[in-house]
Amino acid sequence: MSDRDTEVRQVGQLPEIVVRGGQPLRGEIQVEASKNATLPVMAAALLTAEPVTLPGIPWLHDVDTLRRVLVSIGVGAERDGRSLTIEARDIDPFAAPEHLVRRMRASFLIAGPLLARFGVARVPLPGGCAIGSRPIDLHLKGLQALGADVESGNGYIEFRAPRLHGANIYLDFPSVGATENLLMAASLADGWTVIENAAQEPEVVDLANFINAIGGEVRGAGTPELRVRGQSHMHGTTYQVIPDRIEAGTYLIAGAATGGDVTVGPIVSEHLKPLLAKLREAGAVLEDAGDYVRVTSDGSLQAIDVKTMPYPGFPTDLQAPLMAALIRAKGTSVMTETVFENRYMQVPELRRMGADIKIEGRTALVTGTSRLTGASLRASDLRAAAALVIAALSAEGASDISDAYHLDRGYYRLEEKLASVGAEIERCRCSEEP
Ligand code: EPZ
Repeated sequence: MSDRDTEVRQVGQLPEIVVRGGQPLRGEIQVEASKNATLPVMAAALLTAEPVTLPGIPWLHDVDTLRRVLVSIGVGAERDGRSLTIEARDIDPFAAPEHLVRRMRASFLIAGPLLARFGVARVPLPGGCAIGSRPIDLHLKGLQALGADVESGNGYIEFRAPRLHGANIYLDFPSVGATENLLMAASLADGWTVIENAAQEPEVVDLANFINAIGGEVRGAGTPELRVRGQSHMHGTTYQVIPDRIEAGTYLIAGAATGGDVTVGPIVSEHLKPLLAKLREAGAVLEDAGDYVRVTSDGSLQAIDVKTMPYPGFPTDLQAPLMAALIRAKGTSVMTETVFENRYMQVPELRRMGADIKIEGRTALVTGTSRLTGASLRASDLRAAAALVIAALSAEGASDISDAYHLDRGYYRLEEKLASVGAEIERCRCSEEP
């Protein structure tokens, strides 16, 4: 295991990516453990004082940020190569650092487990971000239903509950984070909790499986109704989280967009069904072998209509990457983003390459054009950055992408993986003044 496997690039370290488009991608790409399963499972390790070992962790920027949040409240979080062992023994539930929680909103997932285990938690208010205001009202309403007193002030939220009790909770929206926070809190509450209109994402199911692996009792994961019987305490375990369906989907889209032949794995292909259906509709050929998926395309995709929805609908995290493939499709695609209010940050940058995209409220009309040219681009958020890379791979000429550190939040060694299947892509310091 080389050091580079555990290296976590810091923000701004290598700000630029340069891509020369026109090469069809051909080959196999390794899929990492899911970022959006790893983060809640790391938070859920707070539910027990015994060691929890997570092998095969991708050292993504967001994963390292949460590790640092855990360490700052007294958690032992030792890395050994790609493995992370978390030991939540002597914890200070008041010490979560504002600068880290504000940087990565998933840090807020420590609130539920801290409150459930210690009866108190003081967590900085997570900021909004480029894709939306990202409120936490559903988290707060649910924790109050479980018996928490909630006070906010000075940019922090303080939760207190001598003992949480079971409750019937209905989520106005199947929020992934709210479902996860409430699932963790309920797992140590007195009695039964029912969470209705719960999120059904595979990452929520993985968290439920982890909670059951440390002694919890969660039923109905993957359905809109979760039933949780609170326990008095939990024990340690070793747990391998599921593969990252969004990373895998991003590379399948890149393969289709460049007219290539790309195989991604290991993956649970069931988790990618909405994307596989859309890529087939667009004219790509998909081979689904269950634990790996292969896409082949001649590069001339057909326009399709796409509406992002909570799982099992089309994932909002693949809306921008898929748009980057549709800007060269034949015809006009109608894309509707129903999950976040501002998730078209990639559009102005794609227009700089010649893309023809009209935004009308939450709908984007994407009319394909054959004349996509490379340009200087700026990344605004994780998935928009991935979209810019995909567009640059299928454009004529060279593109450079600044603020490329956004990619490191959720894609492990992206440019190396793409280069391994024929992309002309590299990180450089080419924007730095001589
Ligand atoms: C998770 O974010 C993911 N992040 C996101 O992935 C993903 O886009 C999102 O779920 C939707 O699938 C992680 O798992 C770490 P939500 P989360 O709560 O939990 C509204 C990526 O690129 N809402 O399901 O924050 C909210 O404003 C990231 O990997 C409330 O109104 O998403 C949004 O419009 C980006 N009140 C919608 O629900 C609340 O209390 C979905 O948010 C909570 C959410």
